[in-house]
Amino acid sequence: LSLPRFPRDFLWGVSTSAAQIEGAVAEDGRGRSVWDVFAAEGGRIKDGSDARVATDHYHRYREDVALLRELGAGAYRFSVAWPRVVPDGDGPVNGAGLDFYDRLVDALLAAGIAPVPTLFHWDTPQALEERGGWLVRETAERFAAYADVVAGRLGDRVEHWITLNEPAEVTLLGYGLGQHAPGRQLLFEALPAAHHQLLGHGLAVQALRARGATGIGIANSHGPTWSASASEADSEAAALYDLLLNRLFAEPVLLGRYPDEELAALLPGPVAEDLKVISQPLDRYGINYYQPTLVGAPGADGAAAADFGGIRLPPELPFAPREIGGYPRTDFGWPVVPRALTELLVTFRERYGDRLPPVVITENGCSYEGIEDGERIAFLDGHLRALHAAMASGVDVRGYFVWSLTDNFEWAEGYARRFGLVHVDYATLERTPKASYHWLREVLREQARG
Ligand code: FCB
Repeated sequence: LSLPRFPRDFLWGVSTSAAQIEGAVAEDGRGRSVWDVFAAEGGRIKDGSDARVATDHYHRYREDVALLRELGAGAYRFSVAWPRVVPDGDGPVNGAGLDFYDRLVDALLAAGIAPVPTLFHWDTPQALEERGGWLVRETAERFAAYADVVAGRLGDRVEHWITLNEPAEVTLLGYGLGQHAPGRQLLFEALPAAHHQLLGHGLAVQALRARGATGIGIANSHGPTWSASASEADSEAAALYDLLLNRLFAEPVLLGRYPDEELAALLPGPVAEDLKVISQPLDRYGINYYQPTLVGAPGADGAAAADFGGIRLPPELPFAPREIGGYPRTDFGWPVVPRALTELLVTFRERYGDRLPPVVITENGCSYEGIEDGERIAFLDGHLRALHAAMASGVDVRGYFVWSLTDNFEWAEGYARRFGLVHVDYATLERTPKASYHWLREVLREQARG
């Protein structure tokens, strides 16, 4: 059954990130990132792997661009590795690092694909981490200086920019729980990392605007939060989770305020002034959507806290995610709930009204084994229908990016989770398009026929 028709100028894309695909971590003057150090500590990555080679995209980008062209992608969202461009996060710029992105952008344009660089997808320069990383204000300022350098080099050819990827995950998993780099376990004391990333976003928007950029967005992760029951305790726990994972990152950007005054009081710096920087108008609002979360009060009956993407939350947190029953699951164990994408978008439209810029789904996808990946086809088909339903009910959505082009290094999970439209054999680095790749190519051809 063919998919409903999307608008003619809808941006169809695919997303990746530098730390997950590039490899070549010690080449051409690249500095160390927090993920290099984290993976080398041992015991941090489930399969004991690291991303020193990853998919070797740094050397094979031409092959990957050819796969994108053959797919018919209109856009490609990749990330620029900060430590490749400014190896110590501060100080000299590494021309050879910038050259790589220059070549990549030219190869994409030659293939008729719009480049969509993300400036920060989790690979903080280790040297900055040693000075406090996102817990300190200086990192936000260094980030803006780096944004200016990248815009200075690529701005003549790039129309669409993304500042940050998922500051919520960096805060929660990187600084709060320690499951991701830099491996800190600060629980609520991780909150300054949220504020400084948001400030870094705002300062980077200023830097990009000063270079004439007219297509700027952020990629925040969002998902509906469902309460485990109608009880007051569960509803309060769910509301708090929604506040921390959704509203804390959306509202400073969209409304210029934090969703909770007590929480804002815990944040460092001249918060009211910073919010003016954080809330400058954006051209697009990027949403990474994977799954809804069912949340209840901790310690209640059956609150054997469900895995949070494979992560067990400490019992002292005031909320506990629960298993969502009744839906298929990906190999990662994530429930497949397309209608939650419609719900999410409609809720955003209701909550933020005209303050919400046109939305782009900057990531959506699933992990499944195998090259005959019918489950991935069903996943994408379902989510595209759900997206179309949200658009039909009035949400302004301008693009959709699949996570991801190829299988890659899935952070703390290592290579065990395969999110690609294209299979990678990690022994030979050979790329093999999966059934979902062929399916998506047909969808894109059909949509282009108009
Ligand atoms: C998102 C990340 C992305 C990828 C997917 C599966 O949270 O932004 O890098 O790991 O999850």
